[in-house]
Amino acid sequence: EEGGEAHGLRGRLVVVSNRLPVTLARKPSGWEVQAGAGGLVTALAPVLRDRGGLWIGSCGQGGEAEASAPFARFSKEAGYRLLPVELTGEEHRDYYEGFSNEIIWPLFHDFQSRCNFEPRYWNCYQEVNRKFARTVAANSREDDYVWVHDYHLMHVAGFLREQGARRSCGFFLHIPFPAPDIFLKLPWRRQVLSALLEHQLVGFQTLADRRNFIRCLQVLHPRAEVWGRGCVVTAGVEEKSVRIGCFPIGIDYAAFAKLAASPAMAAQARAIRQAYRDRTILLGVDRLDYSKGVPQRLRALRSALARHPELRERVCHVQVLVPSREGVGEYQELKNEIERLVTQINGEFTVPGWVPIHHLYRNLSRQELVAYYLASDVALVTPLRDGMNLVAKEYCASNVTETGALVLSEFAGAAAQFQRLGALLVNPYDTEEVADAIKTACCLSRPDRRMRMHKLRENVRRSNVSGWVDSFLDAAFSRHLDDFAPIET
Ligand code: ADP
Ligand code: F6P
Repeated sequence: EEGGEAHGLRGRLVVVSNRLPVTLARKPSGWEVQAGAGGLVTALAPVLRDRGGLWIGSCGQGGEAEASAPFARFSKEAGYRLLPVELTGEEHRDYYEGFSNEIIWPLFHDFQSRCNFEPRYWNCYQEVNRKFARTVAANSREDDYVWVHDYHLMHVAGFLREQGARRSCGFFLHIPFPAPDIFLKLPWRRQVLSALLEHQLVGFQTLADRRNFIRCLQVLHPRAEVWGRGCVVTAGVEEKSVRIGCFPIGIDYAAFAKLAASPAMAAQARAIRQAYRDRTILLGVDRLDYSKGVPQRLRALRSALARHPELRERVCHVQVLVPSREGVGEYQELKNEIERLVTQINGEFTVPGWVPIHHLYRNLSRQELVAYYLASDVALVTPLRDGMNLVAKEYCASNVTETGALVLSEFAGAAAQFQRLGALLVNPYDTEEVADAIKTACCLSRPDRRMRMHKLRENVRRSNVSGWVDSFLDAAFSRHLDDFAPIET
């Protein structure tokens, strides 16, 4: 596969993200670097390999410095260099758990009351961003292109410039960007917005996120001129041109479709269905995060069972939850709330031979995850807010039988692409609407399901993650501020 040349990339690609696409495990024989399974790495690896690129990030739990030999071995095999940044315990707490996940994460997902605007977090966030910038500066050249990912590292480009390193930088935000009335609550709103404007290209998941960013820009920089897909910001004596684009991220469609089409997978999915006695399986797969709306979904299920008694003993809801950010208080409370609700609802409706909710709290292998996708009749993807939501796309890609249905929150980025394609869109805060959508999804006729799922799968296939990488890099290197290709929504 070709990578890079077509985009006008002259030097190497330097990817910068909070997490490296690998995990670090301590084994009796020493540290081991193991490949992660994300779609991002699948899409970026060919470009990184072909351009002799570099990926800078942390592994999240320390140990990176001691593992330099396994990192070097892994890099050699991968064909591009992985460069770990080690965080101290305090940095992990104040930069990752604190500023990133107790301030930016809740604020950008519209949960302003969950924010803890602790000034110490802000100082540490800047220090860690400086540390990342120093690593980028020391390991890259002027003709390299630096692509920074996500809200943990919004200041890297600014600090690169401060450190005297001239680099072309692009930034992609994987999570939503909030409307001005929410963003303006951030005590460091000016600094954050100015930091983003240090990139030559800033990319968002949806047109709504892009529009929110521009509206915030117009409030905080009244002299900013915005037209087409670019903007020019005059800040003091300086004038900057920044491209502002919308690049909805995709998944590695072929990998999911291929895995789901294998005979072994069909057998595994059949075994799951049999274990549930061929009842209608409703599936939820989420990181344990308050943005995913799991308690709201469970209440909707309770309402569906109460209002539509014919669903009792006919449906089983399988809720898979992945442990996440366990050091943050809000996440610990949520786990208790969900467990309480599952117990209550099961207590209310269980009869001999039927339990309505099956709750799995663990990581699954890709194989197991796809088996659940394939075995389920309805996916319930009902986040209160989500940048994109890849689970919705993975569910469709894996549904090779085209027999599944998707209930999707209108507040997931994916809804912008899926709204006209047959997903059942719901407001996740509207318990009765979600309850009725569950009922509707269970009753869709076979041809109706097929038609809807076919359209959804075509969309996921066409907008896969390597196309996403291409469109971002094309936009970064297009000649004029305004001439990058229109996006498909
Ligand atoms: P977020 O990035 O907020 O976690 P997404 O839905 O965009 O939400 O992405 C979640 C990713 O986590 C998906 O790629 C999905 O395959 C993966 N995932 C979800 N559940 C599990 C699980 N139980 N085990 C392993 N991976 C999972
Ligand atoms: O989707 C946003 C995101 O923060 C990703 O960057 C990250 O991979 C995912 O959520 C999981 O979060 P964390 O890296 O905090 O475990």
